[in-house]
This record gives sequence, C-alpha cells and structure tokens, in this order.
Amino acid sequence: MTDAVIDEIDGRMIRVGDKWLADFASCNYLGFDLDPEIIASVPEFLQKWGTHPSWSRLLGSPVLYEQIEERLTELLGCEDTLILPTITLIHMSVIPVLAAGGTIFVDRRAHKTIYEGCQFASARGASVEKFRADDLDELEQRLRSDRSSTRLICIDGVNSMTGNMPDLPALASLARSYDAILYVDDAHGFGVIGERAADESSPYGMRGNSIVRHLDESYDHVVLVSGFSKSYSSLAAFIACPKELKRLLKTAASPYLYSGPSPVASLATVLSGFDVNEKRGELIREDLWNKTAKVLGCLDRLGAHTPNRSGLPVIEVPLARHEEIADVGRFLFSNGIYVTLAAYPLVPKSEVGFRIQTTAANTDAEIDQLVDVLGKLADRFDLQPARREERAA
Ligand SMILES: Cc1ncc(COP(=O)(O)O)c(C=O)c1O
Repeated sequence: MTDAVIDEIDGRMIRVGDKWLADFASCNYLGFDLDPEIIASVPEFLQKWGTHPSWSRLLGSPVLYEQIEERLTELLGCEDTLILPTITLIHMSVIPVLAAGGTIFVDRRAHKTIYEGCQFASARGASVEKFRADDLDELEQRLRSDRSSTRLICIDGVNSMTGNMPDLPALASLARSYDAILYVDDAHGFGVIGERAADESSPYGMRGNSIVRHLDESYDHVVLVSGFSKSYSSLAAFIACPKELKRLLKTAASPYLYSGPSPVASLATVLSGFDVNEKRGELIREDLWNKTAKVLGCLDRLGAHTPNRSGLPVIEVPLARHEEIADVGRFLFSNGIYVTLAAYPLVPKSEVGFRIQTTAANTDAEIDQLVDVLGKLADRFDLQPARREERAA
C-alpha cells in the first residue's frame, strides 16, 4: 500500500490493478473532489483564464487570487491572508523569514515539512530547538532564558497522525508572554473544525474556519498556515497574517516571486468550494462526524487503542507487534481496505500501525465494510489494547 498506482476511481472506491478497494487514505475530508457542483464550476473558469496563468504571483496575479484571499480572510476572521502554491513551499520560505536568525522552538512531533522549513532557517543562522508539547513548563523555561532577538514556536494544528489538537491557548499565551510568534500548521483542521455555536451540527463546530477559531483564540502573536489540498481538494495554500507581514512576504518569500502558480482549475475549485461550504458545509461536517464516530466506536468495542481523542477523521491504529505491519497491510488490502501504513523507521516501533482517514464521500456501505474488516483483523492480529483512560471514557 505504498507507491501504488491507482488505475481508476469510482466515488471513494479505487482500483489498483484488478483489485477494487475502499479508500481510507484520502485527505479529501469534505468530499469536494467528487462534488458535482464544484466539478461543474471548472469549465467556465478555464474558458476565461486558460489552464494555467504561468506568471509568478509577483509578475501577474489573476484576480482569482484576490477573490480567494478576500473570502478566506472573512472566513478565518484574521487581518489578511496570502495564497501560495503549497504548505511545503510556505514552510520553506516563511519560517526562515519569521525566524530571522533567532531561535525556533519546534514541537518534536511537528510535520516533516515544518522541519524542512526549520532546516532552511538554520542555514540562514537560526538555531533550532525541539520541545515536547506535553511539557510546556520546560518550553516556558527555555523561552525565558532565550536571549535571541526573535523567537518562533512551530507546531502542528490537528496532528496528521493522532488527529488531536495541541493546547493552542496555552501555547499562544506563552508566545504573547515571551514575545514569540506561534506558527501553526493546520493542514488537517481547516475545512473540518471551526467556530463553536449553540446550533452547530456537530462538535467539529461551524464553517470549517480552522483551529484558531475552533478554540476561540485570537491571531495575536499567532500565524496560521494551512492549505486547500486536503478538505478543499485543491492545489493552493495560505498563510493568515497581519497586513504588514503579507507586504514583507511579497518580496521575502521566494514562491511569491519565483514559483509557478496554482492551476486555474485549482483556483476555481477553491472559490466554488467556498460556495459549497457556505451552502452545505454544516450538513457535510455532520455526516463526516457520524461516519468517523462509527469507526471510533468499532475500535472502542474491539478494546483497541487509538490516540484519537478528538473525534476528528484521522484515526491511527497502532499494532502490538510492529513486525506484523507487512502482514497487516496485506490483510487489509486483500480484504478491500486501503489505508496509510505507518512503518518503522518512519514512526517509532511503539507507533507502527496504520492510519484510517474518513471522508464525507465514503459511503455507509464502505464504513460498514471497514468495521467488518477491522473486526476480522483484531481476531487475527494483536492491536494495542485500549489504555485505562480510554476504557473509562
Ligand atoms: C501537517 C501537514 N503539513 C503540510 C503538508 C504538506 O502540504 P502541501 O501538500 O500543501 O505542501 C501535509 C501533507 O500531508 C501535512 O499533513
């Protein structure tokens, strides 16, 4: 289940060679990749703009970008936003600018692409220190004793493996106290979680406007980064930041100056994704919540451990014996289930297992099939047993 060639798709079913599998490795959480309204919106944009503008944004920025930034800024409730092609490019270009040769404190469990951004910053004179997100006292001590002119704290929002959120209010408060910037990559939260409301359709909250709004935090000393390549099924990414920083990044972040832009179809699907999010987003999130709850409920009944405490659609299932990962992968594949395998050394031996991602486009029948196969898998292989606090919950 790595480096597989997908020959065909039918909804969330995929064909690899002659085998059809239910896909639980997709990050298209809202199912926008298959949404007929979004698909139908694209040809009109192509007629007007061609397939690809080709200019770097500094050279010529189609007004579609400005339209996206305006709507995104309103959705997030931040001061301004800047669109660049991918989160990876944002990390590599923006982290060095924000670090400015000072100190970066990076969460040990942060995404690999954040680490790569830190390496670029390190090459420009920043020092990089790892911290444990479960020991914020230690982080505070290090912030207190840090003597550099700038401090940047880099973390994931919704973690791409555990599906859990960091203690953003505590981290933001540390950032404000020690005049640091908290840099948050919420690739997996944007689109799924959002502001809380009494009439919300699920505990994911409303509007999918990401972790800062979900946890009722402010953007003071917080820079939010995320992208459209997961929930919005499109190729573009953004940084939510003050206007002054946006102005600086237009000359200091090299992708704005030198990289090719997102294809027109991607800009189109972002804009029509906003429309669908406004019209049907709450129903879609409610559906996603219910489908995810079914899978989490199944693991609960099986007495299996998952780190997922949030109910978000990223569900890691670690094995009791890491040596069995290849056999487990073959078992899932032969039973028609496609997931992401997490093998050693990509993850520590104690976390070897697989990650299930649910999307609103998975049918109820596919969820039932997954539940059935997980039951059979638990008969045949040892999953890690649920921890005491999980059994109590
Ligand atoms: C947490 C996180 N950050 C960044 C990325 C990379 O995003 P992009 O494809 O926009 O570079 C991913 C993709 O898997 C991710 O999970």
